[in-house]
Amino acid sequence: LLELNPVLHPLNWLLGNWESDIPGEGTFPTIKPFRYTEKLYFSHVGQPVINFMFNAFNAESKKPMHRECGFIRIQPGTNKVAFMIAQNSGLVEIEEGELTGNHLKLQTEKLARISFAKEPHVQQVKPHMPFNICQICRVFQLLPDGKLEQTVTMVTDNQPLSQHLHITYRRSS
Ligand code: HEM
Repeated sequence: LLELNPVLHPLNWLLGNWESDIPGEGTFPTIKPFRYTEKLYFSHVGQPVINFMFNAFNAESKKPMHRECGFIRIQPGTNKVAFMIAQNSGLVEIEEGELTGNHLKLQTEKLARISFAKEPHVQQVKPHMPFNICQICRVFQLLPDGKLEQTVTMVTDNQPLSQHLHITYRRSS
């Protein structure tokens, strides 16, 4: 077993694998509400870096949907955390924020998209993301009962800050 790099100790509570306990709720003012399940994997190889992968599935059909992966770093000696994220929708992102105990709040610092980005889970007829996402805010927190909660809100250039995702997970290993 690889020893955890001491720099990562404050994020120890996040490490391991998680699976949604009940389906998460997806919303946004412009879309039909949906339900999804999700598996999260956080691992390390002894470096002061966490590797992560998030895989979401349609709650009914179980088909793969949104996917993200990347790396997490902490600025040593501070509570500043950075996520480097690649999403299957063609979005890449740097989110930064602060860790307060078992509560991690992040916001978009940098955002870029591939030139032909469309979300893969959308009906072909409807070109997706006709506008720009301007800001993504994300909170992870460990709940008193040991579950993990993730909430994602976002701002687009035609919608004010609105919730997109809310989900809770239990440890799967
Ligand atoms: C729609 C962004 C994660 C499922 C959208 C839209 C955006 C977006 C911009 C379009 C809203 C509109 O059409 O007005 C993001 C970002 C994510 C994320 C930035 C991660 C940080 C997820 C996850 C799921 C998901 C984890 C889980 C399955 C959907 C669905 C729609 C959608 C089903 C509606 C598609 C439709 O209109 O047909 N998302 N999303 N998204 N997202 Fe996400």
